[in-house]
Amino acid sequence: MLARQLNIAIDGPAGAGKSSVARAVAEALGLVYLDTGAMYRAITWKAQQQNLSLQDPEILGRLAETTEFTWSDDELKRRLLMDGSPIPAAIRSPAVTRCVSLVASQETVRRALRQKQQQLARSARGIIMDGRDIGTAVMPEADLKIFLTASLEERARRRMHDLGQDVSQLPQLMREMAARDHQDSTREHSPLSIAPDATVIDTTGLSLSQVVELVIRHAEQICLSRGE
Ligand code: DC
Repeated sequence: MLARQLNIAIDGPAGAGKSSVARAVAEALGLVYLDTGAMYRAITWKAQQQNLSLQDPEILGRLAETTEFTWSDDELKRRLLMDGSPIPAAIRSPAVTRCVSLVASQETVRRALRQKQQQLARSARGIIMDGRDIGTAVMPEADLKIFLTASLEERARRRMHDLGQDVSQLPQLMREMAARDHQDSTREHSPLSIAPDATVIDTTGLSLSQVVELVIRHAEQICLSRGE
């Protein structure tokens, strides 16, 4: 199915499976995928590299405003570039993960990145974006809004597998994840919340392919209702 100019928003807490689902749906439907968490991580990483204060809204806002995010030229699989280069793997490091919620809570950073995300969406002709505020703030007019969730334990277990850690790390991962959930859902500016018109999918006990199937089915219904 070719989902012409379909815009899909996927929101939810850490470890709910948003990026795996979004990537697979993007491939199946021929959409561009934008991982907005990677942009918050990239700004956090850059601030740390430059030894900037992570508490200063003005400095961080200026950093976010002056950082350039563009698509790679690769028509088939567009990738996000930062200042013309691939985004470094270090954005997934524990040092960045620990601080990214703090940086993402600054309104100055959110305003700058939101505008950039909207611009990237406009130039993509059909996009699936994942994050925390996509359906509520970045693409409130999205054709399809999905809110993915799962129990805290399941989300921490998935993270444990991703990081190649053993079960002894689970309680610590659950504590860190609960703290990040709390910070992301209680911050003042565009907190993690469910858009009133979002479809909620609890992925606890579901496989990746089951969730992908569900999202594709919702997207197909929208295309059918538009007569495509
Ligand atoms: O999805 P992730 O774990 O890579 O996101 C990193 C952080 O960025 C997370 O703490 C929440 C924040 N974030 C946000 O506030 N808004 C978004 N649209 C995406 C991520």
